[in-house]
Amino acid sequence: MRRALLPLSLLLSLTGCPEAPVPPPNPLGVRALPHPDGGWVVRWLGGATAEVDGRPFGEAGYLRLAEAGPHAVRVGDVDLRITPPSTDPCAPLRFVVLGDGRASVDGLGPSVYWRPMLEEALARDPAFLVNTGDLVKDGDAPREWRNYLRSLPPWPPMLAVRGNHDKGPWFDAHGVGHGPAWGWRVGPVFLAMIDAEVPEAFVPDLHRRLDDLLTASDAPFEIVVMHRPVWSRGNHGSDERGHNARMVPILDRHRVALVLSGHDHDYERFCPSVGVGEARRCVDAAEGTTYVVTGGAATFTVPVPGLARDVDPAVADADDAASRVFSGAHHYVEIEVQGGVLRGRAVRTRAGNVLPPGPFDTFEITRETSCPPS
Ligand SMILES: [Fe+2]
Repeated sequence: MRRALLPLSLLLSLTGCPEAPVPPPNPLGVRALPHPDGGWVVRWLGGATAEVDGRPFGEAGYLRLAEAGPHAVRVGDVDLRITPPSTDPCAPLRFVVLGDGRASVDGLGPSVYWRPMLEEALARDPAFLVNTGDLVKDGDAPREWRNYLRSLPPWPPMLAVRGNHDKGPWFDAHGVGHGPAWGWRVGPVFLAMIDAEVPEAFVPDLHRRLDDLLTASDAPFEIVVMHRPVWSRGNHGSDERGHNARMVPILDRHRVALVLSGHDHDYERFCPSVGVGEARRCVDAAEGTTYVVTGGAATFTVPVPGLARDVDPAVADADDAASRVFSGAHHYVEIEVQGGVLRGRAVRTRAGNVLPPGPFDTFEITRETSCPPS
């Protein structure tokens, strides 16, 4: 059923906070990103030169560290301490996910809420951050990218996928990712970072690469990050580009634990499921894939489900049945993994909300490990 009237919370959000630039905490945009072959890449803006562990190193704007470290990197007057997370699959791991932090108007890049939300996320001391995309409003605007990169902390790393607003040359030129499909193993988790914005002709190759990444992974928890949701009751809806029929069987075959997406400016969690179309069904979290939409760092969130455009009514009904949580809260998602259990917690932030901050959803996914129970 489609809702004809918008609730007061949506009206308040649509008429809410003005956009304003946030002072850059990292003027050189210094940042580290794990490399899929091991070690790190460090990038920065401008012509400052770098030292690594006390020695001059690298060309201006870029350096590659093959060893995991730790490393002490200095770029200009910015200190970056690379402290690699444990590779022990039984060691506890905590990271934070957020997305759609773009502004709603051109010329700024990040949303007015982006930096305060990022600070709340960083206060959780995550090993790294995951960004589900739409980092800027206009991906062709160099200034927006500079504002985004200067908003990031040098550490911990921000692993981001490209959103539809991030199209243009700068996502790749700034090395925000490592191409259309890449992966990183960290302790008990393998992250597959997928560019859902590739041209249609490249999609079969993208799916092959996703399959290859997941085949090569022996991590207990495989997590796929891609901007456009597989399933969503938000205003973009499920399967916007029509890839589910080819992609969901890949996710099912590898028993992917979790898919994290953005694009819709809300929080959504669906039942763990397998199958697509009429074969789609909810299963135990140990057997299926849990789908989460986390696009809660946007200027405007949408607290109303069922506004999806061009979604097949049968799919919309199945989405309604599979939905477990839908929220328009500004939020981040904290993930903790230990001893064969992944625990997720969606947290309403101080920034952007009328309701008080705090957790508003939790979920748990288990996988077989030889680790002692947590
Ligand atoms: Fe988007």
